[in-house]
Amino acid sequence: MSYYITTPIFYVNAQPHLGHAYTSIIADTISRYKRITGNTVRFQTGTDEHGDKIAEAAGQSGVSPKEYADRISAMFRETWPTLDIAPDHFIRTTDQEHIRTVQSILTKVHDQGDIYFSEYTGLYCKGCERFLTAKELVDGNCPDHLKPPAEIAEQNYFFRMSRYQDWLIDHIKTNPDFIQPERYRNEVLSFLKEPLEDLCISRPTSRLTWGIPLPFDDKFVTYVWFDALINYLTGLGYPDQPDFDEYWPVAEHVIAKDILKPHAIYWPTMLKSLGLPPFRRLHVHGYWNIDGIKMSKSIGNVVGPAQLVEQYGVDATRYFLLREMTFGLDSSFSDEVMITRQNADLSNDLGNLFSRSLTMVANFCEGRVPQTGPLTEEDQALADAATTMITSFSAHMEAFEFNRALQAIWQVISLANKYIVTNAPWELAKDPALRPRLETVLYTLLETLRLITLCLHPIMPGTAARMSSSLGIITPPDLLSQSNWGGTIPATAVNTGPALFPRLKKQATAEPRQEGTPATKKAPGKKDSKPTSPPPSSEGLITFDQFRQTELRVAEIIGAERIAKSDRLLKLTVKAPEERIIVAGIAEHYAPEELPGRKVIIVANLKPTKLMGVESHGMVLAAKEGDRLVLSAVAADIAPGSRVA
Ligand code: MSP
Repeated sequence: MSYYITTPIFYVNAQPHLGHAYTSIIADTISRYKRITGNTVRFQTGTDEHGDKIAEAAGQSGVSPKEYADRISAMFRETWPTLDIAPDHFIRTTDQEHIRTVQSILTKVHDQGDIYFSEYTGLYCKGCERFLTAKELVDGNCPDHLKPPAEIAEQNYFFRMSRYQDWLIDHIKTNPDFIQPERYRNEVLSFLKEPLEDLCISRPTSRLTWGIPLPFDDKFVTYVWFDALINYLTGLGYPDQPDFDEYWPVAEHVIAKDILKPHAIYWPTMLKSLGLPPFRRLHVHGYWNIDGIKMSKSIGNVVGPAQLVEQYGVDATRYFLLREMTFGLDSSFSDEVMITRQNADLSNDLGNLFSRSLTMVANFCEGRVPQTGPLTEEDQALADAATTMITSFSAHMEAFEFNRALQAIWQVISLANKYIVTNAPWELAKDPALRPRLETVLYTLLETLRLITLCLHPIMPGTAARMSSSLGIITPPDLLSQSNWGGTIPATAVNTGPALFPRLKKQATAEPRQEGTPATKKAPGKKDSKPTSPPPSSEGLITFDQFRQTELRVAEIIGAERIAKSDRLLKLTVKAPEERIIVAGIAEHYAPEELPGRKVIIVANLKPTKLMGVESHGMVLAAKEGDRLVLSAVAADIAPGSRVA
């Protein structure tokens, strides 16, 4: 069977973060699960690069939208392998092939009369990149971006979405799992109780040029959502490539609740107009908050994937995200819960079961899988639990209930740990007459571990590969053919290998992250003692409180002069925002004339000190490389006195 799974294509106005990583881990996990259950899978992700937001972000960075998009898109592409996320195709909306496909689709929909030109006045939210209805507003604001939308009146092209409303309602009603979980299906159906408005699908080039030109009117570019949704077709080579025929009928999209409406309403009606069947299923998850607070750049609590991987490792991160969130509901990330889970579930439960079992095989059976004798009732209970685990794991994976799929595995891990205690193989090993019993107990444990490992492949690919290698398993995982009891082959060499997961030290206090706290720098175990593993050194680190004592501000240099008898020092007059004098040791690197007008970063709360007779009120930050010295700067214009956090 074929299977096609996609993530949203992410806007390139922000760097990858935990939220993007979560959706992508879901899609990756499902694609791995589908592969080991005999499917041919295509997994697509990518970046959404046109529109107001990107043009604006590029402008702020002083580069062209394309340069900006290239840079951030590359970050997304390079981040995914660090989380073992392995898409088959990474699409960009600036790809020539995509642009051609969008234009040919526009022509087709236009030719058949589903696109018309009209005047429109509406409430436009730039954050959502769409017009909102008055009903959607909360206290006059967009509920997601907490800002009032702008009233925009202009002539534009419209897609006759309303024509397909009845068809869409009927499709959702007759296909109960078209949108899941059910709460989102209900949300869409309730929205569809009101008459659907047509969708404005263009922006005049007088307002926005960063988009795909309409093939039938070059004074307009395509609305970003019309452009973006089509990526799911372009990536398959629509309309005439074989991948399209193979994968479109089995397409499933994973998104978060923020983009439900474009996916559940715009997209199926666009497809209907094109004469294509809708996607098969839409999977909608909730939002990750950080320490209970919405993740946001302005709050400064954005958690980046690279730091998670550095602090916890790829597999612990994947495990945590899949285990902690109930698919469909919001969840909160915190270092404290993360550390607790890593220690309890991974290091204790799984890690101990694994290392104890293999150590006993090494010690009592010379590192080779023993023979199994007849199973006792207790052995059989564990064997039954392990085989039932596969069925229940699979059912939950099919239903996108990742936390329950993992619970099913951990129930067996817990049973197996108890089995070790009640059977005490170390006692059996003392009596040669009990040798057959010892061997059966150890075989039962190894076989249970084999089945656990099989389930872990899609969740924690690296750990599952290490476990397989220790267990002497050389065949690639296949959940269909390898899930019967008895697959472990006696006499196979096994080895203990290094511990699967290190124990992490808890932080002394788990403070919520706040402005300026790099969410990612609070490495576990760094504060109060040496960590057990991958040990980042604690030397030289400062606490957030220590850092907070340093007040950094943007300052504009308004005057600069040499200080008599000093080759090194310049006397700078800066605005920060009050005027002050700072003496800086930069005379060998900068001439006074070239400084006024520059904006630099200063330490604003240093005690005044006299240098060559001039009192200095602060310090200018600069970077040194050998003999070179380069002043600090800010990436875009910002008022003098702005705090640097
Ligand atoms: N470009 C559009 C999508 C077009 S798809 C045809 C877009 N991009 S986005 O960069 O804003 O990504 C939104 C998606 O990122 C969400 O739907 C979700 O997959 C992920 N997340 C962003 N923040 C998130 C959380 N805080 N929590 C969970 N996922 C979130 O919308």
